[in-house]
Parts: sequence; structure tokens; C-alpha cells
Amino acid sequence: MQALGPVNALYPMPTTLVGTVINHKINFLAVAHVGILNHGEPQYLSIGLSKAHYSNQGIITNKSFSICLPNRQIMAQTDYCGIVTGKNTDKSKVFDSFFGEVPGAPMISECPVNMELKLHEVLDFNTHDIFIGELVQTYADPSVLTNGKIDMAKLDPLLFDMASKKYWAIGQAVGDCWREGKVLKR
Ligand SMILES: Cc1cc2nc3c(=O)[nH]c(=O)nc-3n(C[C@H](O)[C@H](O)[C@H](O)COP(=O)(O)O)c2cc1C
Repeated sequence: MQALGPVNALYPMPTTLVGTVINHKINFLAVAHVGILNHGEPQYLSIGLSKAHYSNQGIITNKSFSICLPNRQIMAQTDYCGIVTGKNTDKSKVFDSFFGEVPGAPMISECPVNMELKLHEVLDFNTHDIFIGELVQTYADPSVLTNGKIDMAKLDPLLFDMASKKYWAIGQAVGDCWREGKVLKR
């Protein structure tokens, strides 16, 4: 094994679009550093945003945000939201947006899956704000559902890899979780 130093090797991560409202204007930015903090209800999710970003103030003011899942059809628009800042560029018209139950959490009609969250806590890191949100509602386009559940093959999520700086697609399912290991059980 070769030591690489403290290289974060936890990729790929899903590419998401986080929605906020700042000064009455909708803004989206691309976010790949997302986390699942628990499994159950309430469900808590995290996003790590550089303090340099415009979006942070919208989340802090409205105490809410959205996490939207783009697919490869809207890769260019997604990437654009990760290149330009709402500080000097109006990103409110990049997508057709809609609101659900949580004011301040705009979502995206073109994204097959959208989640709206209430801000639960902010972890104040040196360079980043870690926003922990409580998931309030999830919206999915019926075209990505199989038996009422989100189907990875239909969703076609955009995966983000820092080392190659590329978007990746998922392959096929290769095994059953909580089942494959049973062959090693006595
Ligand atoms: C694919 C992709 C993923 C990104 N992930 C993150 C992230 O997890 N955290 C972060 O702080 N910035 C991330 N960025 C950078 C922001 O999206 C980018 O700086 C954006 O312009 C900030 O927008 P805002 O200033 O309007 O908030 C990412 C950019 C791209 C292209």
C-alpha cells in the first residue's frame, strides 16, 4: 500500500443543487459535500459550504434550504451553478423552480428528486459552515419511481469525484445489502 497523506478518498459523492432565497431572490449552488447523519425520523442531512459562498446567508436568514438531485440531462446547468456566484450573477432563472411546505427552500422542476429541509444546527468550522437540516418533505418525479421508491437506475444521479474532477454515472446493482455477507455467517 502507498501512503498518500490525508487525502479525502470518500468519493464519489452525489452532486446536488442546494436552493436558498437571498434578498427575495432564488439562488442555487452545486454541492457534493453532503452527509447523512442518521437513518430514521426525523432524518438529518448535512451540507458543507465554504464561508465564501453567497448561499450561506440565505440559509442562516431563512433557517431553511433544499437539496435537489440533478441527472445528467441538466449537467451543464448544474455545473454552471457551481461556477458562478449569486453575489454577481442571477441564477434564479437557470431552472424552473417551485416551493413546497418550507419557505426559503426553493426546489427545481427539472430535478427528478427534491428535498426541503428546516435548518437544525450550524457547525462553525474555520473555513466552512456545516449546515444540518431536518428533512421535511421529499418530492420525486413519478418517472424515477418503482413501486413508490426512488429507483437508482431511473434516477441516473450525477456523481462527483474530486481526484478526476469529473462527473460519473452509476453502473448496475451488483449485490444485496444485508444479504451478501450471510454466506460468511456460521
Ligand atoms: C460539482 C461541484 C460540487 C461542488 N461542491 C461544493 C461543496 O460541497 N461545498 C462548497 O462549499 N462548494 C462546492 N462547490 C462550489 C460552489 O458550488 C460554487 O463556488 C458556487 O459558485 C457558489 O455559489 P454561491 O456563491 O451563489 O452560493 C461545488 C462546485 C461544483 C462544480
